[in-house]
Amino acid sequence: MSALLAVDALRAGYGETVVLEDISFAVEPGQVLAVLGRNGVGKSTLMETILGFTTVHAGTVSFEGTPIQQWPTFRRNRIGIGYVPQEREVFPSLSVEENLLVASRTGGWQAADVYELFPSLSQRRHSFGSTLSGGEQQMLAIARALMGGPKVLILDEPMEGLAPIVVEKLYESLVRLRDRSHIAMILIEQHAELALSISDQAIVLDRGRIVHRGSARSLLADGTLRDSLLGLAREVQNPSPGEQHDASHGTHAL
Ligand SMILES: Nc1ncnc2c1ncn2[C@@H]1O[C@H](COP(=O)(O)OP(=O)(O)OP(=O)(O)O)[C@@H](O)[C@H]1O
Ligand SMILES: [Mg+2]
Repeated sequence: MSALLAVDALRAGYGETVVLEDISFAVEPGQVLAVLGRNGVGKSTLMETILGFTTVHAGTVSFEGTPIQQWPTFRRNRIGIGYVPQEREVFPSLSVEENLLVASRTGGWQAADVYELFPSLSQRRHSFGSTLSGGEQQMLAIARALMGGPKVLILDEPMEGLAPIVVEKLYESLVRLRDRSHIAMILIEQHAELALSISDQAIVLDRGRIVHRGSARSLLADGTLRDSLLGLAREVQNPSPGEQHDASHGTHAL
């Protein structure tokens, strides 16, 4: 049987510039894959390639056995690839509920399901997107992706810039999502230990290539290997003095 999502011998980048080389991995329904790596190694580029925002030079991206690497983004969304980009995308001038409704689709989630997963969004359902905290914006961005009824949900650094208490809440929601649905997740995260603790498999990228693959459990258990792959600095580079309230913080290290 074909994998839900499979990437095979992928070479991709931006126009002529090749960022990713020889990337292969597969995700099955209900599985969580952690994608780890230092800044600028190509994690977001890989997700953008799955969504169709980059140039594919070689290799395939397949969804349930169908090659989709030439498909436009909206078609990939429609077959079940949900995406929460690194820059949380919510409409500032719409309420939480309106943000959800514009993202809804036949066969997708209902607002009530979303509110169950994220109770704090329920409390803020009539607030404008612009008035939400960074954590609430992130929950709303994930919730909007769920309204489309994804089979695989791609999350690009969902915890970035959030205060530890908010990270914990979001993490609990992702665990609930993992346990209550068959949605597969691809989780890019700087908080490696946190990501590994909710993932089944892990890949580590370095300069556009996969330099490690294996079970999340084994990488979680091997701190020395983790440090050599990700660098000792990673676990301490994140503390932010407070929660970030600006939704448009997504500055890639270009
Ligand atoms: N739009 C773009 N055009 C050209 N090059 C880009 C573009 N976006 C990213 N790059 C380059 O691609 C490489 C990989 O960047 P990418 O954003 O995928 O890394 P990342 O692993 O997601 O980093 P971070 O952890 O900082 O989010 C970098 O060298 C970056 O400069
Ligand atoms: Mg990135």
